[in-house]
Amino acid sequence: MKPPILICILAVFMQMVACSNEQATAPAVIPQPVEMVLSHGRFRLAPDTRISWSGSQEASAVAAQLASVLRPATGFELIVSEGIDGDISLLIDASEEWKPEEYRLTVEKNKVIITAGSGAGLFRGIQTLRQLLPPQAFSHNRAEGVKWAIPCVRVTDYPRFGWRGMHLDVSRHFFDKEFVKKYIDILAMHKLNVFHWHLVDDQGWRIEIKKYPELTEVGAWRVDREDKPWDSRQPQQPGEKATYGGFYTQDDIREIVAYAADRFITVVPEIEMPAHVGSAMAACPEYSCTGGPFTVPPGGVWPITDIYCAGKEETFAFLEDVLTEVIDLFPSEYIHIGGDEADKTEWKRCRDCQARMRKEGLKDEHELQSYFIKRIELFLNSKGRRLIGWDEILQGGLAPEATVMSWQGFEGGIAAARSGHKAVMVPTSHCYLSVYQGDPVTEPESFRGLLTLKKVYSFEPVPPELTAEEAELIIGAQGCLWTEYITDGTRAEYMILPRLSALSEVIWSPSDRRNWEEFNIRLPKMLERFDAAGINYSRGSYRVDMYASYDEASGDIILEMASEQPSPEIRYTTDGSDPLPGSEEYSGPLKMTGKTTVKAAIFENGKMIGGISSKAININKATGMKVQYNIPFSDKYRGHADRTLVNGINGSGDFNDGHWQGFEGTDMDVVIDLGDETTISSISSGYMAAVGSWIFLPRSVEYSCSNDGNDYTPLGTVITEVDPADQGNMIEVYSSSFPAVNARYVRIVARGLITCPPWHAGAGNKAWLFCDEISVE
Ligand code: ACM
Ligand code: ZN
Repeated sequence: MKPPILICILAVFMQMVACSNEQATAPAVIPQPVEMVLSHGRFRLAPDTRISWSGSQEASAVAAQLASVLRPATGFELIVSEGIDGDISLLIDASEEWKPEEYRLTVEKNKVIITAGSGAGLFRGIQTLRQLLPPQAFSHNRAEGVKWAIPCVRVTDYPRFGWRGMHLDVSRHFFDKEFVKKYIDILAMHKLNVFHWHLVDDQGWRIEIKKYPELTEVGAWRVDREDKPWDSRQPQQPGEKATYGGFYTQDDIREIVAYAADRFITVVPEIEMPAHVGSAMAACPEYSCTGGPFTVPPGGVWPITDIYCAGKEETFAFLEDVLTEVIDLFPSEYIHIGGDEADKTEWKRCRDCQARMRKEGLKDEHELQSYFIKRIELFLNSKGRRLIGWDEILQGGLAPEATVMSWQGFEGGIAAARSGHKAVMVPTSHCYLSVYQGDPVTEPESFRGLLTLKKVYSFEPVPPELTAEEAELIIGAQGCLWTEYITDGTRAEYMILPRLSALSEVIWSPSDRRNWEEFNIRLPKMLERFDAAGINYSRGSYRVDMYASYDEASGDIILEMASEQPSPEIRYTTDGSDPLPGSEEYSGPLKMTGKTTVKAAIFENGKMIGGISSKAININKATGMKVQYNIPFSDKYRGHADRTLVNGINGSGDFNDGHWQGFEGTDMDVVIDLGDETTISSISSGYMAAVGSWIFLPRSVEYSCSNDGNDYTPLGTVITEVDPADQGNMIEVYSSSFPAVNARYVRIVARGLITCPPWHAGAGNKAWLFCDEISVE
């Protein structure tokens, strides 16, 4: 019979209390081990500490690695030898039954023992051991004056999922070999076991293929438009040389695969098909439907119509050649073939593709895509490999042995599991670490959308609607990092950390060991490790969120502050100055008056621990007044209807924040009724550009006024100086000042682009105009 659970918890608690004199806080291990019990005392690492290994050569290799990672910070040249009598003893014990990657770690005053059934288990164990040391243990330089003590502890640990991955897109921006190794080190530190390497996409082909050197000679290079917003980059022009990019030689790839294998991480290469191959099309246009010519796009492409021809036999011969070399380089069981976001426009008008559909009895282009993927799967299976692809491979029928990577939500994974297929869960909502993790105004430019640390931590990879048997088919989850806005390694680290720390706990730790408040107690130590290791990270989770609302009844603006941090100490100012430890502490909603900039931050022990958030409250003569729309706003972006533009609250960097109002394919034409004749001398209105989302600044804004609401006197016109191609993501306020006049009605006409410009992905389609907030003084 099981002992009552309360007694177990009490027993652990008493042990923790018993050791509290020596060890003030529980060790901050991330991801949280399955079981960890502290006891008295510490093991002290010293220059003469001996490491021994036994069981197999894998144990020897892990022991050597342990000595090697401890060396830089401690300066200790620890001796490693075969046997079981070392002060730190690593044992592979194949006589016991072990779960995959399971290990046991015991730290006593005079001895550390890590036991596992495999090298992978031992390696995961030494990650825990490293985290039991002071954070300076992660430094690449000698850390002086540190006592290298490890608390006495017993750990039993194994992962929840067999696929614990992190992806890196090296196509949108190229990352050199040294950075890829650092990235793999970060994965290893989090006990991940899959590195999903996105080697091919429209904007760059990054893997040397000996049979087709043109894939990297041409496909790895694009014209340098890095000074332009991603979604408004002009294609390569005649006579222009493509100079921006890079690729990995096959030797580089072998080196990285071996580096990852030493850390018990499998590298799963992704070779995109049939779409996201603009780089391959530029090099080998003969495998397209149209024959090209094509150039490597230097920025965003949408929709993706230039894809491999599914009708030509030559396409399949080419892909089999490429995959043959890929298989030789990567020992992984899985080969990722992409499969996402293929626009079938060219397949519909291609004679070869249509002939293929007739010959094979395929009823539509989805079935043609399914034919394509199934054929590639047969080839991979014939080489002893398995196919994995993005969830679009479900369209037209899933290949018989395929595994689905569910990115558009949970549905793809659910459909796969229900039909007996394996799935890896990577829903954008919880796993796309390329979107903002804090306020877009203060965070570096990223994909639109907000994925906070807390939301990542709340991720549950197994959808509750699956039966227990189906749930077994969810083999794991991973984070994805798309690099359109990530130009270097430092930024890549910033985007994945500490969200990857949260995700690692989701996919390693038992779900009942997860606790957001408690994770936040351990997290600061993890950040200290990143600091010691020279790894960049974000403090987005330590920001203050400010929500302003307009109360229709009283006309008051109420400001509330919150944070996803448990019990934050929020301090704020209202005079525009930066908050200090002695600033007013937030204790509840504030009623705002006049024009105020509120600045707030989180403090701990007298120190600011995140960034400063700022909110402008803009109460003016238009605030709360009636707005008449001569052109209606779009139902898709209503804000909060008629009061949105004059509620005294400026829209944030997120056009979905409920404060912005959108006009689709039209100008904006509004009249504000100030109630009585009022003296005015300036008007301003704010607009957003988010060119990738088809939102552009107005070309001009015309202000006029009237006393009867019929005859208007012009007050001024403001013209933007920012070309649509340079707008990217920005907010621009169009302000006009004039000699004071008396007026009751103010009219604002913003002239939009109406349609997206010819160079834009949405060329000829309706363009958006987004406004907030109108201010009259
Ligand atoms: C994807 O994000 N297109 C897989
Ligand atoms: Zn075709």
